[in-house]
Amino acid sequence: MPATDLEQIVNLCKRRGFVYPSAEIYGGFRSSYDYGPLGSLMLRNVKDAWIRAMVQERDDVVLIDAAILTPPQVFEASGHLANFSDPLVDCIVCKRRFRQDQLADRECPQKREGCQFTEARAFNLMFKTHAGPVEGEGTDVYLRPETAQGMFVNFGNVLQTSRKKPPFGIAQIGKAFRNEITPGNFIFRTREFDLMEMEYFVPPADGPKWYQYWCEQRMQWFLDLGIPADLLRLRTHESDELSHYSTGTRDIEFQFPWGWGELEGIAQRTDFDLRQHAEFSHQKLDYFDQSSNERYVPFVIEPAVGANRIMAALLLAAYDQDIIGGEPRTVLRLHPRLAPYQVAVLPLSKKDSLTPLAHRIHAALSKRYMCEFDETQAIGRRYRRQDEIGTPLCVTVDFDSLVDDAVTIRERDSTQQVRVAITSLESEISLRLGF
Ligand code: GAP
Repeated sequence: MPATDLEQIVNLCKRRGFVYPSAEIYGGFRSSYDYGPLGSLMLRNVKDAWIRAMVQERDDVVLIDAAILTPPQVFEASGHLANFSDPLVDCIVCKRRFRQDQLADRECPQKREGCQFTEARAFNLMFKTHAGPVEGEGTDVYLRPETAQGMFVNFGNVLQTSRKKPPFGIAQIGKAFRNEITPGNFIFRTREFDLMEMEYFVPPADGPKWYQYWCEQRMQWFLDLGIPADLLRLRTHESDELSHYSTGTRDIEFQFPWGWGELEGIAQRTDFDLRQHAEFSHQKLDYFDQSSNERYVPFVIEPAVGANRIMAALLLAAYDQDIIGGEPRTVLRLHPRLAPYQVAVLPLSKKDSLTPLAHRIHAALSKRYMCEFDETQAIGRRYRRQDEIGTPLCVTVDFDSLVDDAVTIRERDSTQQVRVAITSLESEISLRLGF
């Protein structure tokens, strides 16, 4: 059964080295997190899975990596300087600040006697800094709040250099920064996060068809990664929820322990961004279709998702507790492509006679998979540790291995064990992992 309490995941992440509070030795930095040895591997696997589905397995999407520091002209054109804000209210009694749209019935969560709010005011969520040694006029730059603008401003460059034509997409993964008023729920909402976005440029008349297509594709992606269907739903935005650039958005939502929450947004950005940048930069950002002899500004469908938020959902969905051999165990039933390690190589004991063979096996498998080597503690405890961090397969090297040139593969989910020849170990592992 998936985790029912966020604390189950928060504790496991801290205890096993997935996620630590940032700057913890100084008391922590509110709502910032560092990814430890296991978390950084898993986060990378989430991004790789996205690139695999969005770029590698398609012939119509290219990847770019644009700058984080962005001049104000870009966000003036995109509308972020004017519109990328949340409505902020102050409680004049408890002196706390809240997002007005997140307050149930406009009640102060502190519920003190006589709590009263100020009028709402727009609070821009972009982080501003300055470039160069002198602070002042003309040196302002912004940390991007979305990666999307890097793809719009490079539309012409990519069109010229990639030989793509609509329908085609530009994808990007990178850090985004938002000065969130109410960050929280662990890595669900933080002020810096890893955003994975794809701008899909299509002939305007085909917009609705591709919007439907990307909603289905993206939902299937979460299902393929093992999130149960009953923990996912697609929700259409009400008109008052839409971002300034969107004429229609659907969210893929996940059933978090605190309720349904957004995992991914799929937006119809129309030709808004390309037209704005064309106007502000005085450059042509359109496409000439030679077959129809038509020039048009493509419409854009944008699936956008945070890697960290997906990681939280994947951990919650994969968390399980069962009883093995009369003993309770915690297991992360992660998809093998997402687990930090695909294989753990475990010599039965820390004897000199076993270690060299175990190291040779680890070295061979490591060329293809992320593998751990662990020779401390009793074998049962090592299996439990691997179960708890989601490693799908353990390879145990025992004293018989020195004689019969075979090892034992143990499966995380079933705990079944099977003896295989070392010569066929790699193919047996590939068969079980599915890659
Ligand atoms: N370019 C469109 C865009 O940025 P968004 O709905 O604001 O759309 C996209 O963000 C995704 O980014 C969200 O669905 C969520 O997964 C993730 N995200 C947004 N704000 C976040 C935050 N403060 N912390 C972690 N992830 C966040």
